[in-house]
Amino acid sequence: MGTKRGILVRMNKSKGKPSRRITTGQKIAEVKSRLSPPRIAIAIMAAGKGTRLKSQIPKVLHEVGGRPLLEHVIRAAVRVVPAADVYAIIGHEAERVLAALRHTGVNFVLQADQRGTGHALMVAREALAGYDYVIVLSGDAPLITPETIGFLRDFHLREGAAMTLLSADLANPTGYGRVLRKSARSAEVRAIVEEKSASPAQKKMHEINSGFYVFSVKDLYGHIAQLSTENPHSEYYLTDMADVLRRAGKRVVAWKTANPGEVLGGNTRAELADIDHFLRMAKARQLMADGVTIFYPATCIIDSDVSVGADTIIEPYVQLLGTTRIGAGCHVRSYSVIRDCEIGDNVIIRPGCVMSESHIAARAEIGPYTHLRPGSDIGEGAHLGNFVETKKIKLGKGSKANHLTYLGDAEIGAGVNVGAGTITCNYDGVHKHKTLIDDGVFVGSDTTLVAPVRVGKGAYIGAASCITDDVPEDALALGRARQVVKEGWAARKRAERTAKSS
Ligand code: UD1
Ligand code: CA
Repeated sequence: MGTKRGILVRMNKSKGKPSRRITTGQKIAEVKSRLSPPRIAIAIMAAGKGTRLKSQIPKVLHEVGGRPLLEHVIRAAVRVVPAADVYAIIGHEAERVLAALRHTGVNFVLQADQRGTGHALMVAREALAGYDYVIVLSGDAPLITPETIGFLRDFHLREGAAMTLLSADLANPTGYGRVLRKSARSAEVRAIVEEKSASPAQKKMHEINSGFYVFSVKDLYGHIAQLSTENPHSEYYLTDMADVLRRAGKRVVAWKTANPGEVLGGNTRAELADIDHFLRMAKARQLMADGVTIFYPATCIIDSDVSVGADTIIEPYVQLLGTTRIGAGCHVRSYSVIRDCEIGDNVIIRPGCVMSESHIAARAEIGPYTHLRPGSDIGEGAHLGNFVETKKIKLGKGSKANHLTYLGDAEIGAGVNVGAGTITCNYDGVHKHKTLIDDGVFVGSDTTLVAPVRVGKGAYIGAASCITDDVPEDALALGRARQVVKEGWAARKRAERTAKSS
C-alpha cells in the first residue's frame, strides 16, 4: 500500500495541486486503476414483467425502432465492455427473452422470482464476484448511449465512489425516483426516494434517478443484505443502496447527464410510442444528412439497420424494415412496405408494394401494388406491375410481367414478356415444381403454365393457353379449345324470349 501511495504523491506533484479534496479511498481507487485495469462488468436488469404495459409479451421484448428494448441496451453495453462481461438478468418469461436475444452473445442470469431491482442484483452476486466494478443498466431504457455509460464509469472511478448514479433533470419527473443530494451543489447523494414514497415537496424535484448506476462490487455485496422490503411495493429497491451505503460511511455520488432524453424508460405504451418516435426521427435525420429525401418523415417507419443511398426519394407512409438496403437515386412511393430486401440503384417502387427477402437489380420498376415474396430475384431494368405476385423466382434482365400475374418457383430469362393474367401452377397439392422460361419468350395473356414445364428460347405461347408440356425453342404453342361460331344464335334466342313473354 505504501508504494502505491508513493506513486500517487509523485503523480500529484507532477500535475500540480489537485483542484479538489481527495479522500484516501479515491486515491486508492485511482492508483489501482492505473496499475492494472479494473475488471468491469455490465449488468442489465431485465427480469420484470412490465405490468403497466398490460401485455402477454415481456416488457423488454417490446420493440422500439424495430428491435426489442433489451437489444438496444445490450448493443450499447457491448460497445463499452466485451459481450463476455455483460450479464442480462432475466426472469419473467425468461425462455422467451433468451430465445430472442441469445444471438447477442451476452451472459444471462436467472432471477426466477422478481422481487425488485435490489433483488435482481442479489441474484447476480455469483456472476459478478470476479469483478471490481459493475455498471448497472435498465433493460427498459433503450436510449442510453455507450458514450454516456463511459462517462458514468469514468466519473465513478475518478470519484472513488462506492455507488454512482446517473441523474437527469426532467421537465416531467412523474413516476421516477428523485435524487436527494447532500446539498444542492454537492456530488454526494443522501438517498433516492421513489415516487410512491415521496413527499409533496420531493415530488416537485426535477432531478430524477435514471436507473443507471456504477457500483464497486465489494461495497455493493458487502451491504446489499441491508436492503429491506419495507416500501409500498414490498420489493427490494436497488435505489435504497444509496442510503444504505451512505450510512455505512461510503461515498455515493450522482452525475447529471446533459442529455436527459437518454434515460427515458418504456414503462407504458405511451412511453414506448415516444421512444419509438425519437428513434425513428433520429434515423430519418441521419438518412437525410446522408443525402436521402424523405417527405413527411414522421409518417415513415425506417428501422435502424436500414441503409439508403443518396438522392433516393422516400414518400410519406413508407416502411423500410429489417436489413433492407436501398441504392442511390431510387424512388420509393407511398404505402410500400419493404422488409429485408436489397435494392439496386435507380429503382422505382410505385405505391402500395409489399416486398420481403428479395433482390431487385438497378433500374427495375415495380408496382403499383406488387407483392414480392421471399426469394424473388428481379433483374436489371425488369418491370413488375399491378397485382403481380412473385415467390422464389429469378426474372432476367429487361423482362416484364405488368398485370395480374402469379409467378412462383420459376426461372425466367432475359427479355421475356409475360402477358396479363399469367399463372405458374407450381403446386400439385403435394409438391412444388419449377417453371423454366428461356430468354426472349412471349407468354400470351391468361396463360397457365403447369409445372414442371419448360418454354424454350424465343418461343411464343398463344393467349389463354394451358401449357402442360415443354415448348421447344422458337415454336408457337397453343393449348386451348378451338373457337366455335354459331351464326345467328343470339338473335334466335332473343326472338324466342319475346315470343314467350307476349
Ligand atoms: C426504477 C427506479 C427509479 C428510477 C427508474 C428509472 C427502483 C426501485 N426504481 O423505477 O428510481 O427513476 O427505474 O427508469 O429501482 N427488474 C428486474 N427485476 C425485478 C424488478 C425489475 O430485473 O425484480 C428490471 C425491470 O425489468 C426493468 C428495470 O429492472 O428493466 C427497472 O424496473 P422498473 O420496475 O421498470 O423500475 P421503475 O419503476 O421504472
Ligand atoms: Ca422502468
